Amino acid sequence: MCGIFAYIGPKTNAPKIVIEGLKKLEYRGYDSWGVAYKTTDDIVINKKVGKIEEMKEGPWTKAKSSLAMGHSRWATHGGVTEKNAHPQATENRDIVLVHNGIFENYLEVKKQLQKKGHKFISQTDTEVIAHLIEEYGKKFSFEESVKSAIKKIEGRYAIVVLKKNENKIMTARKGSPLIIGVGTPKNEYFIASDIPAFLKYTNKVIYLDDDQMAVIGEKSIKFLDIKKDKEIKKRIIKIDWNVESSEKGDFPHFMIKEITEQKDTLTKAINQDPEIIEKVAQAIKNAYGVYLVGCGTAGKVGMVGEYLFAEIAKKHVNFAFGSEFGNYKDFLTKKTLMICISQSGETADTLEAIETAKKKGVKIVSIVNVESSTMARISDMVIPIKAGPEKAVASTKATTSQIAILTLLAYACDGGVKIGKQLLITTASQINDMLNPRYGEHIMKIAKKIKNVESMYIIGRGKNYPIALESAIKLQEVSYIHAEGFAGGELKHGPIALISKNTPVIALVANDENKKDVLSNATEVKARGGYIIGVSPEKEEVFDFWIRVPDTGSTSPIVNIIPIQILAYQLAVLRKNDPDKPRNLAKSVTVK
Ligand code: G6P
Repeated sequence: MCGIFAYIGPKTNAPKIVIEGLKKLEYRGYDSWGVAYKTTDDIVINKKVGKIEEMKEGPWTKAKSSLAMGHSRWATHGGVTEKNAHPQATENRDIVLVHNGIFENYLEVKKQLQKKGHKFISQTDTEVIAHLIEEYGKKFSFEESVKSAIKKIEGRYAIVVLKKNENKIMTARKGSPLIIGVGTPKNEYFIASDIPAFLKYTNKVIYLDDDQMAVIGEKSIKFLDIKKDKEIKKRIIKIDWNVESSEKGDFPHFMIKEITEQKDTLTKAINQDPEIIEKVAQAIKNAYGVYLVGCGTAGKVGMVGEYLFAEIAKKHVNFAFGSEFGNYKDFLTKKTLMICISQSGETADTLEAIETAKKKGVKIVSIVNVESSTMARISDMVIPIKAGPEKAVASTKATTSQIAILTLLAYACDGGVKIGKQLLITTASQINDMLNPRYGEHIMKIAKKIKNVESMYIIGRGKNYPIALESAIKLQEVSYIHAEGFAGGELKHGPIALISKNTPVIALVANDENKKDVLSNATEVKARGGYIIGVSPEKEEVFDFWIRVPDTGSTSPIVNIIPIQILAYQLAVLRKNDPDKPRNLAKSVTVK
């Protein structure tokens, strides 16, 4: 959700570098975008509504400048218009700024500034920050005025600021991602919301923490702790992501590339430092109340976790969506353990849940993909899933890796981490068969059959009930077909009224104690005319169409979601949707 990219260094095609960087951040979701670049005595701003791809060639791609910044905006405050797009600037473009996050007290500050004569042309909170910096600039230096403005901002933010007469970039963050890439030529820096955006140039990074600011000039860089008002030192870290891992390669879309990577990503997830798994397992056992918390797909993974802990570790853990977690605040104590699940580590609702928990002294564990994320940085313990960059909005490889980690933890709580690991290794090797083209061709037959249906349903029981819910999300996100998941047993309490002739119903039938019951639910649906698509290790009589999955026992949620991911992708392509960037959705939801 929103992307920031900025460049300062010896290269003279900064605007072009920024456009390319913004394109690499497209996966985050956006509806408008803009660039600003410095000329000798001015800052030029260009803004557009729509896709960057459509506007690749513009004056900005040819402009000569060594200092530029850009932004892709996902509208929150104010509609999707050029005026509301970033960069935002003061009247004479003295201060120009891009911003991610939400400036919660902006209305109050806006009123104060209006009284002082400031005029606003957009509806954004961002424009207010530009004017606030300008106002402080009447008394202070550029650096001081940015710092003073930041101190007034309530909420989460990541900002990059330029000033007309200064060859400098000021950048700061709190609760919103922002990473500095250190270029190979001396004094070259990239600032971006995510590492893949500048990976082509460098794998050396500096992570800004909350309430920290960087002042980057043509020949110098310094870091400040905003709260303590003092200069600090920051380390340069070399990361081991390569360019290929964040590019599509020979694949038509990131989504299918990421689905196909799952054998490897699962193996990487399983190869955890045994110490951290044991440590977290111990914390789970010692805790008085454990909460699994996540949003969207990561939330569904948390729900799977609830079943896995019950089944494998005989332990009751609670699940809550990030946005709902606050409702449990009265049950939180110093003995509570919170396990957050998130691909990006930047989801606002989960971060807010952590804030709520921290106030009560709760210990936080996070299971994240982006190790540099805010969530990882504010957690007491971190289990990285190591899936590599996930760029398609619809999560696939991160999902199965997160389920793998929860499976491992559940086994570790029962003293059987080795058994869990072995089971997961076997599962990883078995899913290889599901990732070959022949398997995809088989699923394509059903994709072609159902591509024009209005609604479809998914049923599951036990740990495959949350997988039915996740299946529905996957299908909704990219195919835009109405899809809903139900617990098999709930069908006859309402949803079965929705079944008519040929309504597709996917039944997730694992070879476990729920098998008989979910098959019986499928039979009830079939009796009402439903068309049953069975996802199961064995072909059952009730199936009209069978998608075979390996029989892997406790890891059935992992193998069952893969064919649905493939089906969702194929439906998106058949319906001419963009599977990587579905309408109205963002990869990382950084606002509440
Ligand atoms: C968005 C994404 C989903 C993701 C959810 C949570 O809605 O489109 O794919 O599951 O956010 O994101 P997180 O990064 O916390 O896993």
